[in-house]
This record gives sequence, structure tokens and C-alpha cells, in this order.
Amino acid sequence: MSEKNHNVSRRQFLTYTLTGVGGFMAAGMILPMARFAIDPVLKTSSAGDMNAVAEVAKLTNEPQRFDFSYEQKDGWYTSEVTETAWIYQDGDNITALSPTCTHLGCTVNWNANEEHPNQFFCPCHGGRFEKDGTNIPGTPPTEPLHKYVTEVRDGTVYLGKAEPQI
Ligand code: FES
Repeated sequence: MSEKNHNVSRRQFLTYTLTGVGGFMAAGMILPMARFAIDPVLKTSSAGDMNAVAEVAKLTNEPQRFDFSYEQKDGWYTSEVTETAWIYQDGDNITALSPTCTHLGCTVNWNANEEHPNQFFCPCHGGRFEKDGTNIPGTPPTEPLHKYVTEVRDGTVYLGKAEPQI
């Protein structure tokens, strides 16, 4: 076997080198793009997760307003969402109600109308709800306020999604 057969020609050397460098550069460009494309699918969305909202020790028998925020992921778009809950405690039961009026979506407030004390009142069309969220007959809303899924862990109230009561 001659020594000449073991030598790599200049052309072969350039071919191997350019192929190696080109492959390395292509992988450097393609891998981040592939990760970007797949990443949101692999992550779990935080919408509907349980969020820490209030300390149980601060709850009273009277509904109190609590605001809370969480990060919502919609595919590649992340936004901060702020929601409100009216929460009260009755013995061992903790009730958390959505402030969104079930008539046309205005915001209700507790004890906001002197003529109708101890009720949720909607200023838009005079909708009213009992303390437990039940809509009062003769007012525009036709269904109760939505109720948050509630969980207590280590003295803290966690809320999930607000769901219809019927
Ligand atoms: S939106 Fe509340 S009564 Fe109409």
C-alpha cells in the first residue's frame, strides 16, 4: 500500500470541513426554532389553576372583596389577568363568588344599595342577588352569580375557575 492512498486531498479536506461546519451552523439555527415551535405545547397552561387569594383568618361572615392576579398563557402569548372574588365564611363553609353580573356582565358590589341591604347589587340595570349569589326574582339576572372552585391549604384560600351554580 502506498503512502499516497492515505493522504486526504485538498478537495476532500475542504469538503469534510465545510460539511462539518455547515452542519454545525444548521443545527445551531434549527434547534432553537424547533424548541420555540414546540415549547408552548409542552408547558401546562396556568388558566384554571388554583390561585392563592386570601388568608382564612381574615374571612368574616360578611362578603369581602379580594383581588388576585395570575399569569395566563394562550399559546405563545402570556398575559397577567386580575380577577375579583367576594368571599365569606359561614362555619366551615367558605363561599367565593364572581362579581360578574349574570345579566349582561357588569360588576356587582355587596351592600351597595341602601334600599336593599345585605344583597349584591348591580348598578347597570338594578340586578340583585342574595348573599349566596342566588338571583332575586323580579330583577334582570336569570341565574345566580358564578361560584369559584375553592380549596383551603395551610390556612390560605385558593380559588380555581368560577363556575355556574345551576
Ligand atoms: S348587567 Fe347587571 S343587571 Fe344588567
